[in-house]
Amino acid sequence: MTELPLDLDGGPASEPGPGAALVPGWLGLEQQAWIVGQFRNWAAGPVPIRAAKVRGHEMSVRTVCLGWHWQPYKYTRAATDVNGARVLPFPEWLVRLGRRALQATGHTDAEVQAYTPDTALVNYYDDAARMGMHQDKDERSLAPVVSLSIGDTSTFRFGNTENRGKPYTDLLLRSGDLFVFGGASRLAYHGITRIHPHTAPEGCGLATGRINLTLRMTGLTD
Ligand code: SIN
Ligand code: MN
Repeated sequence: MTELPLDLDGGPASEPGPGAALVPGWLGLEQQAWIVGQFRNWAAGPVPIRAAKVRGHEMSVRTVCLGWHWQPYKYTRAATDVNGARVLPFPEWLVRLGRRALQATGHTDAEVQAYTPDTALVNYYDDAARMGMHQDKDERSLAPVVSLSIGDTSTFRFGNTENRGKPYTDLLLRSGDLFVFGGASRLAYHGITRIHPHTAPEGCGLATGRINLTLRMTGLTD
């Protein structure tokens, strides 16, 4: 199967900030398992999944990218910090999924049609992995970021646009959840403070750990 099985639904959305929305259970179990299958292929290469180094220290999260390769703090087509190979192309089904994510979170038809994500950062978290508070600001475009979570539940800290500290809201991101942040929240600081082991639902395709995909528009051209 080369297409994502489409049957998107999800519970009632909540808005943790202006321009931000959480839709619990947006991806069904079949879709989650299908995406995990894709993840296994992506992680195998041509650019294998790796822990990026930030100021000489490996992140606890491991990342594989599609479309553009992210390394602190830039996007390139070739993974010059890994093996020099070109990253896999950004698949069309993820463009469509990104647009459906915007549709599901109250964006206008014009915003939906203009949304053409061209990179995905796919992160794998084991039980001990964390992600410190940061902004997604290596993109030239301020189009929304679409975040999809599969596997173990995480605590996601969603903060303000000024600094890493308070005010922030701690949210649980569960398997299948959609989170979108754009508009006034696009440059909000955010991070993952913990993974909750043994919380992945049966059938999501991942026995342990958590996968998060963020779809973004880089605004870059070759
Ligand atoms: C990220 O900030 O890029 C990933 C967030 C997450 O894992 O939910
Ligand atoms: Mn981020």
